[in-house]
Amino acid sequence: MSSSAVRDRGSARVRPGRRAALISATVGTVAAGTVLALATAASAGTTLATSAAEKGRYFGTAVAANKLSDSTYVGILNREFNMVTPENEMKWDATEPSQGQFNYTSADRIVSHAQANGMRVRGHALAWHSQQPGWAQNLSGSALRSAMVNHVTQVATHYQGKIHSWDVVNEAFADGGNGARRDSNLQRTGNDWIEVAFRAARTADPGAKLCYNDYNTDGQNAKSNAVYAMVSDFKARGVPIDCVGFQSHFNSASPVPGDYQANLQRFANLGLDVQITELDIEGSGTAQATSYATVVKACLAVSRCTGISVWGIRDTDSWRASGTPLLFDGNGNKKAAYTATLDALNGGTTPPTTVPPTTTPPTTPPPGAGCTASLSLQTWTGGFVATVRVTAGSSGTNGWAATVTLPAGTAVTNAWNAQNSGTTGTVRFTNVGYNGRLTAGQSTEFGFQGAGTPPSGTPSCTAS
Ligand code: XIL
Repeated sequence: MSSSAVRDRGSARVRPGRRAALISATVGTVAAGTVLALATAASAGTTLATSAAEKGRYFGTAVAANKLSDSTYVGILNREFNMVTPENEMKWDATEPSQGQFNYTSADRIVSHAQANGMRVRGHALAWHSQQPGWAQNLSGSALRSAMVNHVTQVATHYQGKIHSWDVVNEAFADGGNGARRDSNLQRTGNDWIEVAFRAARTADPGAKLCYNDYNTDGQNAKSNAVYAMVSDFKARGVPIDCVGFQSHFNSASPVPGDYQANLQRFANLGLDVQITELDIEGSGTAQATSYATVVKACLAVSRCTGISVWGIRDTDSWRASGTPLLFDGNGNKKAAYTATLDALNGGTTPPTTVPPTTTPPTTPPPGAGCTASLSLQTWTGGFVATVRVTAGSSGTNGWAATVTLPAGTAVTNAWNAQNSGTTGTVRFTNVGYNGRLTAGQSTEFGFQGAGTPPSGTPSCTAS
């Protein structure tokens, strides 16, 4: 990509903010109706990335590392997209081919390419029944559970700070009418495997949005209802989840559902982001183009639909190439589906809302030894989840203890990533085996759930 193209991409990304500034500057002098018209005006970007950015969204694609030497492929990638998802390179079989031996070579190539070209990265996927290395397929029970947690921790730590959103768990629900979990070796380790994976991912990379991702969940049906129930439960119990990914692999047997937008909206209403993560629509011509436009319009109509990714660039790059499901033909020419997608992105829309990450920002430790702790809360009537961030002072820690004072009548019901002594009054939480040792300034998080009124104030912290 030329440097001027990089600049173009950068300027496109700030444009929504500029428009917001313009609106607020004129708010005092024009009628509210005029402001609304400005905010919903059509835009006229000329690439998928710039047009999506004007609407506060990203536009991404799956990328295969071995195609980064194909100049046609890279030309389209750099011109049109500002988010990439490694198509296979971050999967368990690719990143941990032998237990405990991690290989990031191919995934790192994609991340480096993205960073060098001003694109962000969707990580895909930390825990999934498919594309597991042979050694993991042969594990079960607590050995598999530990291996899964270690895998999530290691990979999310390797990419810490570089990932916009992680597909923490992929495809954990069964198809069909009963809304059950998919049977898999991971599921057989216990129903809590999903929340355990999310907690491990949050600890490893507190800045990444953590997503549950699946297919055949694009409309309301037994499977999406089951995902909805799980996400509602996670939100109520404070399991860290920030987004739901809708793969959106469509064809004539599985077309864009009529309630696609409504389904995205009901998930967004749970208080998290939604993303279209693996879009491809088999077909050709006007029918295909119309379906792409429907998907884009649905996302733009849902303020917390933060981006769209297609699952490949040219039809010939697709995992189901015979269905010609993508936006560019095999020669890299724009298809009707491309034009319809761009036009839909340039159409009027509801302005997006920007929601800050739910994780506590890192605290700057004071000079000297010891540690500091900060508290963030998610509350509901009668209960709460507290996340405590422990940050080492300038000497680092071998171990730490954070003390939280609970109001009378409040009790800790459950804690993770720390050991509590007592459940009421002044409760002391000490590190567990793997998170006691912190280098100077390094942070770790633990959490607990409580019944009653949440605590207030700053927890005290002592280091050993
Ligand atoms: C597909 C890749 O595109 C193929 O190259 C690979 O052979 C199989 O996996 N759902 C997902 C993706 O979450 O990881 C899958 O990707 C497509 C379906």
